[in-house]
Amino acid sequence: MRTKTVLAFTLAAFVCAVPAAELTIIYTGPTDGILQDCGCNELAVGGVAARAAIMKQLKSKYPDAIVVDVGDILPPQESPQTELKATYALKIYSLLDYDAVNLGDGDFAYGPVYVAEFRNRYGLNVFSSVIKEPDKYGVTPHIILERSGLAVGFVGTFHADLYDGPGELPGDDIIDPKDAAKKSLKELDKETDVQILIAHAGTPNQCRVFAKKLGGLADVVVAGGGYGLVHGGLDADGTHVAFSPSRGRYVGLLNIETDEKGEVISVTDELIPITLGAPRDDGVLEYMEEYYVNLRKLVNEESLLAAPEAPTPEGFDYVGSSGCAACHAAPYEQWSNTGHAYAYETLAEVGRWFDPECVSCHVTGYGYAGGFASAEETPGRTGVGCESCHGPGAGHPGRATPFSPVTEERCLKCHTEQNSPDFIYYEYIELVKH
Ligand code: HEC
Ligand code: HEC
Ligand code: HEC
Ligand code: HEC
Repeated sequence: MRTKTVLAFTLAAFVCAVPAAELTIIYTGPTDGILQDCGCNELAVGGVAARAAIMKQLKSKYPDAIVVDVGDILPPQESPQTELKATYALKIYSLLDYDAVNLGDGDFAYGPVYVAEFRNRYGLNVFSSVIKEPDKYGVTPHIILERSGLAVGFVGTFHADLYDGPGELPGDDIIDPKDAAKKSLKELDKETDVQILIAHAGTPNQCRVFAKKLGGLADVVVAGGGYGLVHGGLDADGTHVAFSPSRGRYVGLLNIETDEKGEVISVTDELIPITLGAPRDDGVLEYMEEYYVNLRKLVNEESLLAAPEAPTPEGFDYVGSSGCAACHAAPYEQWSNTGHAYAYETLAEVGRWFDPECVSCHVTGYGYAGGFASAEETPGRTGVGCESCHGPGAGHPGRATPFSPVTEERCLKCHTEQNSPDFIYYEYIELVKH
């Protein structure tokens, strides 16, 4: 490593424009437990198996690269399959070649005993400057890595106010992120050439505001914990802020050039989308298969898709689409030729018809009385049926309250920014109206 510096210096002496050192950083996350994205659109589909393969390709191209994760590995805690997913998320992370992992607010919410396992059981090098008692959580406040002849310091923070899961965050265990970052960055300034802050701090703008408050103490800020799909890098008073988009759909690549004094002279920043055709890592795929086998078991044992009991907000039960055809032949015919009618088959095609996280938008009346439980028990509720748009149909025709008009709001329950980024009501309605 040192030899390389010498070489770079020698080169610099002859060719002035050549930087003294070049540092590559591969950054990922937040994953939020999304081990495999739905593929609802082709924009960027993510998934840890493809991410692992891309990380490996990048590592062979840049063997000296540092690989970091911005935090929030684990899923939010409200899903029925949270526990199983969290375990597999960590097992998979332990396979990936991470040098260090920042702690996110969502991870922190799992509590000290769980977080300590990141290091003790899964071998992850977790860092966070905001934890008051690092040992209790098995984290180090900051880390120093030697690469490309440079000492690179990493400081990690998260904003507790981003947390919107169940229960309260143990606020007593954390330090204000601005104070924490400043303290750690000042300490690292003495020992390292380049200081990088991993700021789990919200939207791109919130991250930029946060970066500005640090008054140039960090050379580069990698922001995560945010929302939306893609954001290019931002500038905060001369500090480059790279932004790692949500749902693990991209791998970020930073190239940092320094001069002889270790001062950063240029930063380039690229987001590599994880697309449908991306190669996948076999080791991770094995874990994914195991996860789905266990998920199917869990869904059966805990009857996660069992006939739902919750009364509908409208007060009528779902009855399914089959019966509607008798009186509404034309709308039925039109609907039968749309993707809505086959939305459940779509899940079967990608092998996830049993996944509670997928069926909710691909069936009719999920979670409500008379709604989907399984293809056998509740026929006519597979796919996005008539009642997905019109509301539950029991008692119709002849009941006192007619169906409410179908508005855009109804579509947006499923056509979310994440699952249907191209959704434009006036265009989409043309394809389904009858
Ligand atoms: C037995 C015949 C029959 C069946 C079955 C039937 N409908 Fe209707 N539907 C009608 C009639 C008649 C009207 C005219 C208004 C009324 O009397 O409620 C109507 C009206 C509607 C309307 C217009 C809005 C309204 O409430 O007036 C919608 C939407 C509708 N039906 C949807 C459905 C759906 C969805 C199903 C299946 C769950 C269904 N219908 C099943 C006979 C039927
Ligand atoms: C219950 C969830 C849900 C609701 C409500 C919903 N959609 Fe969809 N929509 C889906 C799913 C899931 C698909 C993908 C179906 C497939 O191909 O598997 C889809 C696909 C579509 C497509 C592509 C259709 C095709 O034939 O390929 C259009 C257009 C569309 N929706 C329009 C709408 C509009 C407009 C509304 C509101 C009036 C709406 N959707 C309401 C879930 C929903
Ligand atoms: C929040 C609602 C929602 C959830 C949850 C959801 N989907 Fe979708 N899905 C949609 C919508 C809406 C579309 C249509 C997108 C469009 O055409 O704009 C879609 C489309 C798809 C398509 C593409 C269909 C086609 O042929 O074009 C696939 C595949 C798919 N979803 C799989 C999944 C899987 C797997 C999961 C579980 C991880 C899942 N979905 C969870 C709403 C959802
Ligand atoms: C993607 C959403 C969606 C689905 C799925 C859907 N509809 Fe509709 N439907 C609409 C919209 C939008 C309208 C027009 C606005 C309104 O009447 O609320 C409409 C109108 C209707 C009407 C009234 C037509 C008229 O002449 O006034 C009937 C009847 C109807 N739909 C029946 C059905 C039946 C039966 C199915 C299933 C086979 C179905 N719809 C599936 C969105 C949907």
